[in-house]
Amino acid sequence: MGQTRKGFVRFYVLVLLALLHFVAVLEGTSVGVNWGTMATHQLPPESVVKMILDNGFQKVKLFEADEKILGALMGTNIEVMLGIPNYMLKDISQDPAVAAAWVDANITSYFYSGGVNMRYVAVGNEPFLKSYNNSFLPYTLPALKNVQEAINRAGLGADVKATIPFNADIYNSPESNPVPSAGDFRPELRDLTIQIVQYLHSNGAPFVVNIYPFLSLYGNRYFPMEYAFFDGTSNPIRDGDYVYTNVFDANFDTLVAALKRAGYPEMKIVIGEIGWPTDGDKDANIEKARKFNQGLVQHAISGVGTPARKGVLDVYLFSLIDEDAKSIEPGSFERHWGIFEFDGKPKYELDLLGFQENKGLVPVQGVKYMLRRWCILDPKVEDLEDLPKNVDYACSRSDCTALGYGSSCNHLTSQGNASYAFNMYYQLKDQNDWDCDFSGLAIITDEDPSDDLCHFPVMIAYGHSMLLLRKTLLNIIVAILEGCVVFLLLIS
Ligand SMILES: *[C@@H]1O[C@H](CO)[C@@H](O)[C@H](O)[C@H]1NC(C)=O
Ligand SMILES: *[C@@H]1O[C@H](CO)[C@@H](O)[C@H](O)[C@H]1NC(C)=O
Ligand SMILES: *[C@@H]1O[C@H](CO)[C@@H](O)[C@H](O)[C@H]1NC(C)=O
Repeated sequence: MGQTRKGFVRFYVLVLLALLHFVAVLEGTSVGVNWGTMATHQLPPESVVKMILDNGFQKVKLFEADEKILGALMGTNIEVMLGIPNYMLKDISQDPAVAAAWVDANITSYFYSGGVNMRYVAVGNEPFLKSYNNSFLPYTLPALKNVQEAINRAGLGADVKATIPFNADIYNSPESNPVPSAGDFRPELRDLTIQIVQYLHSNGAPFVVNIYPFLSLYGNRYFPMEYAFFDGTSNPIRDGDYVYTNVFDANFDTLVAALKRAGYPEMKIVIGEIGWPTDGDKDANIEKARKFNQGLVQHAISGVGTPARKGVLDVYLFSLIDEDAKSIEPGSFERHWGIFEFDGKPKYELDLLGFQENKGLVPVQGVKYMLRRWCILDPKVEDLEDLPKNVDYACSRSDCTALGYGSSCNHLTSQGNASYAFNMYYQLKDQNDWDCDFSGLAIITDEDPSDDLCHFPVMIAYGHSMLLLRKTLLNIIVAILEGCVVFLLLIS
């Protein structure tokens, strides 16, 4: 009896899950993902698109129109939010013809059956960020208008909506009443932001915002750790009838309150970026990233919503793949937001449809690597006087963010540090022999110097194709010369 009942319950749960799966796929409630390209070595866009499809992502957000990437997305039906970089805002705001040319080249020319499924244009990226010193304030709304009007004139207004991804610090709650329902746009930006909201609303475009619980934690050492995640907290925040157990909901509802105060209580909200990095800080690791992203995905697609707004949340994870050429001004974690490593390997299991099937993510297939060799500190060298200088040189021109406090390679000795730095430089430079010298301190090895925590990568064989070609030619010439020498030696 007990057995049968258990069996029945299991059957029932399975049917329910299958049904949910079906509904989720049907409604396209899967999460989207940001695909950034600030990496020294790029995987082939076709392979990345295949991986995106293999994993069931139905939406991507791109920061810039890249012909190769848009070409790879053709015919896939993946929904695209396409960005216009901030540096273009001024020109676009001042001349409708510039906006029209952009729309023509980057939207209209892909908009046909079998082309790219263009859905949104992201005009600028966090243009009101404090560190930009208000320099984009005058251009943002006029640029938005010029882009949307160009889209409308191209006859695509019903399908393609222009919007602006904002940073979440354009709104907050007063310190005297720090609850979500007291939320409003920052006073100095309030009038302008509301004009933008009005314009978006009149076009049926969503309000896009980037929310980063990791940064709340990073910026405030008194921030309660468990409040960053989605599995409840012993100290929830009460706001009237609402109870907040995670900072994401509180942040989202602060925006809901600000929009309501401005007269737009139903305004559609899209989360343009959200995620958790895996290295470069004490709280940036695989375990926390998995916990955050899995909790987020579950929360987003469950339809529970936030206390102030029920329903499925529209989110774009940040991000798809690590980018080793990003500025680390915000912090060393900046190059480690990817769900996938630089070479397209998943960092952790993530169930994107929320069915706890634990299938794991599908990696990018058929990745080509350079030779399995590494550049390290020569253990035989005794005079280490020039070492710090050389390590600085290597690190300033490559990526040593894994060496810092709380990072995956922070346990290395100073010799290990040097080897790590030399190798990162050598790999970034496509393994040229002459890039593994460092005043005679370095040697090339084919023994992997990695340990359980600290990974010494071998670079992927893409990105500097001209260099590779030149190197191959050089190698061929050297081989022929060597052959000649051997031949001469033999006949002499
Ligand atoms: C299309 O977008 C790319 C990438 O942002 C940009 O370089 C190019 O100038 C755009 N085309 C036009 C005609 O504006
Ligand atoms: C903003 O102002 C600060 C201080 O004046 C300056 O260091 C920084 O370069 C400025 N940033 C931009 C984007 O203009
Ligand atoms: C290794 O380098 C990192 C980052 O530069 C530094 O924090 C750490 O103290 C170094 N470790 C040793 C043993 O020198």
